[in-house]
Amino acid sequence: MGNKIEREMKEEVKHETGTENMPDERKEDSIIEGVDIVRTFLMGEVEVRVLRGISVKIRRGEFVAIMGPSGSGKTTLLNQLGLLDTPNSGKVIINGADTSMMSDKEKGRFRLHNLGYVFQDYALLPELSAVENVFISLMMQGKSKTEYESAAAESLTAVGLGDRLSQLPSKMSGGQQQRVSIARALAHKPVILFADEPCANLDSKNSKDVLELFKNFNKEKGQTIVMVTHEDWHAAYADRIIRLKDGIVVE
Ligand SMILES: Nc1ncnc2c1ncn2[C@@H]1O[C@H](COP(=O)(O)OP(=O)(O)O)[C@@H](O)[C@H]1O
Ligand SMILES: [Mg+2]
Repeated sequence: MGNKIEREMKEEVKHETGTENMPDERKEDSIIEGVDIVRTFLMGEVEVRVLRGISVKIRRGEFVAIMGPSGSGKTTLLNQLGLLDTPNSGKVIINGADTSMMSDKEKGRFRLHNLGYVFQDYALLPELSAVENVFISLMMQGKSKTEYESAAAESLTAVGLGDRLSQLPSKMSGGQQQRVSIARALAHKPVILFADEPCANLDSKNSKDVLELFKNFNKEKGQTIVMVTHEDWHAAYADRIIRLKDGIVVE
């Protein structure tokens, strides 16, 4: 990565650690609280209420699966809880911070420092090596080269890819690519890991590896995980299932 980009990124975050909205008192019961979340989308002329007033609480250290039929709003709900989208009404409180009071820029900063994401299609940058894919967000946080390089290597080692730091994603299997994306999501030790159908493109052996990684991070490190899946056997790794149907929580 060019030094210029690095310098600009550091400028951007110099005075902004992203933690100013975090209360000192971190003993609240819920780490995420969604309160009466409504999200509508325009489909042609018709306004469709995809989330019709959803309230959920997720505790610190919990591993939760969000399930429901295709089109039931699982991704939409995850995107509200993960601050990737903004509800029409209702709010999301994370770690005691009311995120509905944040500007888009503040939300971006909050995401960068506090949240991690894993997507179905891995979302890796193809021209960057595994370790570069992992350290790019650490770089954006303003960490020093020594810090981000060692944190990225450590995170890749934790997902079993310590011997593939300089490999390009295109030279890796789907399971390995997803593990790189998990290393990236966890490298900055996020408060919450969000995963949207992380095993949808993987065979059952690789799915099992990914789910076991999640389970280990959850049990060993107390990592809070919110995972969307439509497979019962994936959801079985979670502590609890939130089931959606027709835009509401049915269970
Ligand atoms: N950005 C969007 N614009 C319009 N419609 C959307 C958008 N995102 C989701 N939807 C619609 O909302 C519904 C729920 O989508 P989604 O949350 O992706 O469902 P799931 O993840 O459970 O399959 C679907 O009918 C989908 O077409
Ligand atoms: Mg989805």
